[in-house]
Amino acid sequence: MSAIESVLQEKRVFPPSAKATSGAAISGMDAYKALAAEAERDYEGFWARVARETLTWHKPFTKVLDESKAPFYTWFEDGELNASYNCLDRHVEAGRGNDNAIIFEADDGTVTNVTYQDLLERVSRLANALRKRGVKKGDRVVIYLPMSVEGVVAMQACVRIGATHSVVFGGFSSKSLNERLVDVGAVALITADEQMRGGKALPLKSIADEALAAGGCEKVKDVIVYRRTGGKVAWTEGRDVWLHEIVENESATCEPEWVSAEHPLFILYTSGSTGKPKGVQHSTAGILLWSAQTMKWTFDMKPGDIFWCTADIGWITGHSYIAYGPLAIGATQVMFEGVPTYPHAGRFWEMIDRHKVTIFYTAPTAIRSLIKVSEADEKVHPKSYDLSTLRILGTVGEPINPEAWMWYHENVGKGQCPIVDTWWQTETGGHMITPLPGATPLVPGSCTLPLPGIMAAIVDETGQDVPNGQGGILVVKRPWPSMLRNVWGDPKRYQTSYFPEELGGKLYLAGDGAVRDKETGYFTIMGRIDDVLNVSGHRLGTMEIESALVANPMVAEAAVVGRPDDTTGEAVVAFVVLKRTRPEGDEAKQIATELRNWVGKEIGPIAKPKDIRFGENLPKTRSGKIMRRLLRSLAKGEEITQDVSTLENPAILDQLGEAR
Ligand code: WTA
Repeated sequence: MSAIESVLQEKRVFPPSAKATSGAAISGMDAYKALAAEAERDYEGFWARVARETLTWHKPFTKVLDESKAPFYTWFEDGELNASYNCLDRHVEAGRGNDNAIIFEADDGTVTNVTYQDLLERVSRLANALRKRGVKKGDRVVIYLPMSVEGVVAMQACVRIGATHSVVFGGFSSKSLNERLVDVGAVALITADEQMRGGKALPLKSIADEALAAGGCEKVKDVIVYRRTGGKVAWTEGRDVWLHEIVENESATCEPEWVSAEHPLFILYTSGSTGKPKGVQHSTAGILLWSAQTMKWTFDMKPGDIFWCTADIGWITGHSYIAYGPLAIGATQVMFEGVPTYPHAGRFWEMIDRHKVTIFYTAPTAIRSLIKVSEADEKVHPKSYDLSTLRILGTVGEPINPEAWMWYHENVGKGQCPIVDTWWQTETGGHMITPLPGATPLVPGSCTLPLPGIMAAIVDETGQDVPNGQGGILVVKRPWPSMLRNVWGDPKRYQTSYFPEELGGKLYLAGDGAVRDKETGYFTIMGRIDDVLNVSGHRLGTMEIESALVANPMVAEAAVVGRPDDTTGEAVVAFVVLKRTRPEGDEAKQIATELRNWVGKEIGPIAKPKDIRFGENLPKTRSGKIMRRLLRSLAKGEEITQDVSTLENPAILDQLGEAR
């Protein structure tokens, strides 16, 4: 890791404007430092204060952090609460039932407003229906839905009755869905007939049917189907029910199930460097507390603001910053069913204009793809829309390159809006390192400083701090409330993946490389240090894609690496050895297409390799280890300058170097 050097020599600094600072939740660097110092001085006292101020407790907690079973930490364990109560009832009880919770815009542009009162009633009806069907506290319910109000209702309804949800992204294949249903031991599945994206109807129910038929999910008793398009679906009597039918006669009130702060709120699968995806298990109070608090700190969300997070509910960002955080603070948010390029590539800007969005949170990959099209076509350029309501911009999911940052700042923010480049992970539950809009001087490409209470640091391979200016491994030194609690069903993997002995067993290992600036101490993230790729902000394990490829009967061996890509950040490149002779020309193209589609079916379209190369072998050392470093160079089209004398068969480098 000491080889990591700072690649960014960014010197531009953008201090917060007087307008951004005045009235901000954290106003100025002194206010930030005071909060950070409070957490340093009295760590548990700080978190207890925040937890009392931010959440409504049914039974107050008396304990704060329990480290006795480290690294299985607990927070506020004897406190009791309900997430749905905190997101809905308490706002209605405070007289805010008529405020909009969600402004939903469908793929075709139809807009629906859902007030807090409406949302509470819809959640309560579904919660009652789930209870009636025997779903109870601690049960797991898998949600496989498109971006929809129903998606949020389903999540909230589960946690209202103490069930733990596991949302599976609608773009995942039946095989991925099956693996998750089996691993989590689901008792029910909530899905839709179809989803609408970019004017096209895509199947969901039929994929769900396939997933259920693949076996291992006999515990799934109910399949609840939201009718989105009215498209034709197959029906299994006794198992399948329409969502609108089961809620029809249910009461609009539902007593929430009060659960311990530590009760699992949800399990969300994410890629790791080895093996199958990990079921990241989160706690009720942890997620709720930090998603709500960071809505206030990072986004400086105030009454009157209109928040829009463009993430899908299938990812952690859609959990913490659509389904929980905004609702927990009683905010009004925009939710969007479609894609940024339909019916035209100005859709995001048009929607900001139409809904008077004030805080906009998206992914660098979306910005990069929109830069390209809007620089080519004035009609879809942000300057063709009124974006004057915007006050804060955010990014998440991958490093944002300074050029894209500047474009976002100038063209979307008109040079007036702070950009919060939020570094965090599925496992961290909420923002960790991020600028504060009313305090932090911004440096393009840097996520700047940790939030108060977050003890982020950079260490070497032995767990020792490295000096600023020197690259290393990003860790968090102390447990924090919204951290993952376990890998579902695999505590050993939790321990070895996140608290490795090599680092002393106490540091949380994020899996990213980072460097801090010599003068400012600002963090810059330098990408993953393990075999995880970041394609359009989606995490993909190279092992997962390799296993999918090798599962194809034609394939003998496969190795997958990432290559930098202008739009998607990283692109998947696969090196494949077939059981038959190495294909060439048109035949190679045809097999590559077949394998690409195969991976799409095995994992999901997001995992499809952009580039597949065939060789008679892979570059291996004499002991049989694949030399991934060489493959990475080949994928990038670099000249191989490294020593290849330890290679068994150097000639295959020429074969693998040819792009298809
Ligand atoms: C990367 C998404 C640089 C990082 C919330 C991390 C980032 C992984 C940033 C987690 C950022 C996320 N700057 N890199 N602002 N945000 N990442 O679990 O590699 O889907 O480890 O969570 O995305 O991805 P995940």
